[in-house]
Amino acid sequence: MGVHRLLAGNLEGRLSLPTGMLAPQVELLAVTSYLKGAPEFLWEILRERLAEPEANISHEEMPTMAEHLAYVARQPYRAWYIIAALGGEWIGNVSLSHHNEIGIYIRRPWRRRGYAREAIKRVLRVHEPVGRAAGDIPEGYVANINPENSASIALFTGLGAKLLQVTYHLDPVKIA
Ligand SMILES: CC(C)(COP(=O)(O)OP(=O)(O)OC[C@H]1O[C@@H](n2cnc3c(N)ncnc32)[C@H](O)[C@@H]1OP(=O)(O)O)[C@@H](O)C(=O)NCCC(=O)NCCS
Repeated sequence: MGVHRLLAGNLEGRLSLPTGMLAPQVELLAVTSYLKGAPEFLWEILRERLAEPEANISHEEMPTMAEHLAYVARQPYRAWYIIAALGGEWIGNVSLSHHNEIGIYIRRPWRRRGYAREAIKRVLRVHEPVGRAAGDIPEGYVANINPENSASIALFTGLGAKLLQVTYHLDPVKIA
């Protein structure tokens, strides 16, 4: 399956909302095993994502709860936050990998209200991209997106991201 790789630059100061539209307020809560209810919330989100094939770039299986707890405890991301709406309700999560990849999920009832855009802007304001090796992509952040995920493509291109490449996966067992 092809994957779009979009490059998002440093967004600070370059973005503005359409006239007359207020950005929704979001609070970002750093994910740790000790944040009460966080592992369980992220587990629910994982289940939802698996039911949305276009939201995934690879088809994973649901881990066991023990595997999931170990994953959260390992702190696999450079930055990982639960997104809370005004009023405190947890509505999604956003992460930055050690390779500057952005991942985001907003639960269905909260979509199309500007939460993803606002959460990404907030995260990128406080985390600089990590250093790159020679020959690597230009400095900035990337989003790996299933080409059928039009919502995510619109979200990132709306933030100023440019299409870098299309990546194909080749299964050695299925070589023609
Ligand atoms: C993609 C996703 C994170 C967007 O979250 P969201 O909070 O609904 O996005 P926002 O409300 O901040 O939308 C910002 C802009 O993105 C675009 N957009 C978002 N959803 C869209 C949709 N369904 N169709 C078209 N454009 C869309 C629009 O341009 C929108 O601006 P507008 O509402 O002013 O027109 C959400 O749909 C989601 O969680 N999907 C499943 C997980 C996923 O695909 N994650 C991304 C993988 S990298």
